[in-house]
Amino acid sequence: MTEPLLIAIDGPAGAGKGTLARRLADYYHLPHLDTGLTYRAVAHMLISRGWPLGDVPHAVEAARLVDLTRLDRTVLSAHAIGEAASRVAVIPEVRKILVEKQRAFAAQPSGAVLDGRDIGTVVCPDAPVKLYVTASAEVRARRRLAEIEANDGAGDFATILADIQRRDDRDMGRPDSPLKPAAGAHLLDTSEMDIEAAFQAARTIVEDVLAKRNKA
Ligand code: C5P
Repeated sequence: MTEPLLIAIDGPAGAGKGTLARRLADYYHLPHLDTGLTYRAVAHMLISRGWPLGDVPHAVEAARLVDLTRLDRTVLSAHAIGEAASRVAVIPEVRKILVEKQRAFAAQPSGAVLDGRDIGTVVCPDAPVKLYVTASAEVRARRRLAEIEANDGAGDFATILADIQRRDDRDMGRPDSPLKPAAGAHLLDTSEMDIEAAFQAARTIVEDVLAKRNKA
């Protein structure tokens, strides 16, 4: 049996890590988990039941109820849920429960692709491939705006940029599992890259790891 291939991808909101993770998962025929959706599911449950986002016992209950097979991207992708998710993501008890579920997903025999904020640092620190995908806040805000407009929505660049910067500060500044490049992570700055270029750069990194593995 071939050795599992585990790819850990981290980075700030809007850097393109989700699209990259999906491309890599397709290419290497691996299951993919967008771990951001797990934090979004907790936030969504709290909001829809009228519970405050800082309510730890209810947030813990919501985290226990998260079912990885039933994460609905269409419902969870709303901008406001992303903001709310970053507020529940500071609660260590919530993180502990979700990290366990994410590790169980990562332990599949084939391996997997997981993307988030703490995959290479906390969830899968032994992953053979770790990528830290980033881009300048301005580029990320421009991409978000283009995405909203492509879906017939309207947005304001300055507001989106401020939202992104606030989310970066919260994700990078929290004491439990702050967003940062993992030891041994390959940095991929996509500010000047389109998705195809980012995919090719990532693929080269993965192929390199696989080639070294085959030689060992
Ligand atoms: O990636 P996405 O924007 O969907 O993530 C929403 C929020 O969930 C992030 O801003 C972050 O606070 C939190 N998150 C996290 N750890 C992860 C994935 C997401 O703290 N592994």
